[in-house]
Amino acid sequence: MLEPLKRLEEEALAELHQVRGEAAVQALIHKYLGRKGRLTHFLREMGKLFPEERPVVGQLANQVKSNLEKATQDFLEKERQRQKAERLLTEEVDISLPGRPFPRGGKHLITQVTEEIVSIFDHLGFEVSEGPEAELDYYNFEALNFPKDHPARDMQDTFYISPNIVLRTHTSPIQVRMMEKRKPPLRVIAPGKAYRHDSDPTHSPMFHQVEGFIVDHQVTFADLKGTLHYFVQQFFGPDVQMRFRPSFFPFTEPSAEVDIQCVICQGAGCPVCKKSGWLEILGSGMIDPEVFHFVNYDPEVYSGFAFGLGVERIAMLQVGLNDIRVFYENNLQFLQQF
Ligand code: PHE
Repeated sequence: MLEPLKRLEEEALAELHQVRGEAAVQALIHKYLGRKGRLTHFLREMGKLFPEERPVVGQLANQVKSNLEKATQDFLEKERQRQKAERLLTEEVDISLPGRPFPRGGKHLITQVTEEIVSIFDHLGFEVSEGPEAELDYYNFEALNFPKDHPARDMQDTFYISPNIVLRTHTSPIQVRMMEKRKPPLRVIAPGKAYRHDSDPTHSPMFHQVEGFIVDHQVTFADLKGTLHYFVQQFFGPDVQMRFRPSFFPFTEPSAEVDIQCVICQGAGCPVCKKSGWLEILGSGMIDPEVFHFVNYDPEVYSGFAFGLGVERIAMLQVGLNDIRVFYENNLQFLQQF
């Protein structure tokens, strides 16, 4: 029984040395190790042996089986390596093919408009600053001359985090923070988010402002006017009319709101400007001496102006939108237009 087993192994190995290609080896595996293969048949026949022969023959049979399995697997592995090497040698790689396109992100319209506004003031020599969105009551209100319990606070529907901390309702607290840190002259442009408890087609509870201010010797209302006039011309175009309307803010005196001629109807009157021909774009004024007292600036020596622009409003005017909410719905079809 041992002899035929050894012969079977030799034959199988000899055949293996002669075959080429994966299919031929698979056939060989089938022929010897498959369900009806020669070795399998041999193992089945072992039951007919004398009991004392079985262990010796069984051991050899198992040995032969694992030898053949290993030899054929090794062969298959080598065959695969050989094929791969062959493919690499013969395949032509066109290194001039363009790469696969990778989707590129873009800046949100609000970011683009903010950057455009900031860069106009950058050209005028303003430095960029920022402040915290969770702000102390002191900077958001108190030092901007909104006394506690004063009705002026009602204008700003405030989110309170604690009795002393609010989500800033405007970017004006950055004025106080900068003045507190530095001595004049100051020229600052400060973009950022602001929050008010307000939500409708033209108001979002989170929105963006750009604050700007100057403090120096002899800053006048004419400087405020000239600066904002320059901005409007740069941003909206040289022919757009603007006007100053008297207004009130606790931290500026006098105060003015600035309107531009309606960019939709050119001043003729339409639903966007509510038939007035004008659109409000910002609040402004001369910094109130009371604010200077909070930061220990002498109002007899220094004066300044400040303004706060609403970024969403300006972006909506620029691209002709009437619903602020599309900015925050993350609809790519909308956002990718810009
Ligand atoms: N902070 C004011 C607002 O949000 C705007 C403003 C800024 C007014 C600076 C005057 C000076 O309504």
